[in-house]
Amino acid sequence: MEKPKAVLFDAYGTLFDVYSVGLLAEQLFPGHGDALGVLWRDKQIEYTHLVTASNDGAHYQPFWELTRAALRYACKRLALDLTPGHEERLMNQYNHLSAFPENKEVLAALKAKRVTTGILSNGDPEMLAVAVRSAGLEGLLDHVLSVDAVRKYKTHPDVYALGTQATGLDARQIAFVSCNSWDALAATWYGYRTLWVNRYQLPFEELGTQPTRTGSSLRDVLAFF
Ligand code: LAC
Repeated sequence: MEKPKAVLFDAYGTLFDVYSVGLLAEQLFPGHGDALGVLWRDKQIEYTHLVTASNDGAHYQPFWELTRAALRYACKRLALDLTPGHEERLMNQYNHLSAFPENKEVLAALKAKRVTTGILSNGDPEMLAVAVRSAGLEGLLDHVLSVDAVRKYKTHPDVYALGTQATGLDARQIAFVSCNSWDALAATWYGYRTLWVNRYQLPFEELGTQPTRTGSSLRDVLAFF
């Protein structure tokens, strides 16, 4: 099979570690950092699906706003007192997530092979710009694609279409990489070749379709070449 001509990466959970907020969460709410990190993330994704599936997307809000709403919900649910100061600190931390350590070398290896690279993410353009800059990835990415262009979130097909439109390639010529199993599944359904990076030894979705490949780090994308 022909090698992919482009590789598109999911951002949150894939290039940037969404659970790196757990440390600050644990400082602010001792004993609850992990639970808050997980519930915050789950609620954030649930809200993206909710606003995309309802009333033709009329309730769309940028990812930053949904992230804040999810934080407020998660704290109420866990009976944690989220002061305005805590909220600002946690949201600010979300803007400075740790980048997974292998990011740069993998992007550099793809660039050396003259492969087109990009991000395709739920994040809004400002969030993505800050994250890319703080991780020092600017020169290594040809495209930074945000769902904000279509005001719908993954897993709407209009979102995955941003990747084919931006690169001018067919979905089969693009490898899409995500650590989120639901994202890897939907991208496979869309027609991309996919790598699911299973960082947390989780089962894949049980809906009858498998990703093209499964790996344990971003380095596994190099197996397509
Ligand atoms: C993103 C979410 C799925 O970056 O993490 O698109």
